[in-house]
Amino acid sequence: MSILHILRYPDPRLHKIATPVRVFDERLKQLIADMAETMYDAPGVGLAASQVDVHEQLLIIDTSEDNKELRVFINPEIIWASEERKIYDEGCLSVPGVYDNVERPAEVKVRAQDADGQFFELHADGLLAVCIQHEMDHLQGKVFVEYLSPLKRNRIKTKMLKEERDIKSRQNKRR
Ligand code: NI
Repeated sequence: MSILHILRYPDPRLHKIATPVRVFDERLKQLIADMAETMYDAPGVGLAASQVDVHEQLLIIDTSEDNKELRVFINPEIIWASEERKIYDEGCLSVPGVYDNVERPAEVKVRAQDADGQFFELHADGLLAVCIQHEMDHLQGKVFVEYLSPLKRNRIKTKMLKEERDIKSRQNKRR
């Protein structure tokens, strides 16, 4: 297994639209294992393939306390969403250190395939419902900061670009 590089906002590759997974083979299982290791290492509760620059419809989530409930969603589709909406303070491994309120349907029913290609349906609420919707947005090339006002988004973009410059200059000094 290996830890994958997570793209950071505003990397334009985060806005690519993922294509459906058609082949359920060893390569896919290896990718899932690597994504899980990357997510647990970060640490985070969800990761979409788009964030590791693989533009396929695959996401993983683990909202448990002890990292023992890895959920894999391949080619996910929201088949029902509640009218009731909830606001949640969201964060993202591609936008480290930034949290803000996003309003979404409180409950969703999702249809997806597992690592073997088997279809399943899941009715989610709470944090799991938030994560599913957040990660599915990634597959559509959407990062959660795009729900915020243009002013806030620009401030986040500036902060992220500055951090990236700082990281790069530290790396250059080390050479
Ligand atoms: Ni995210």
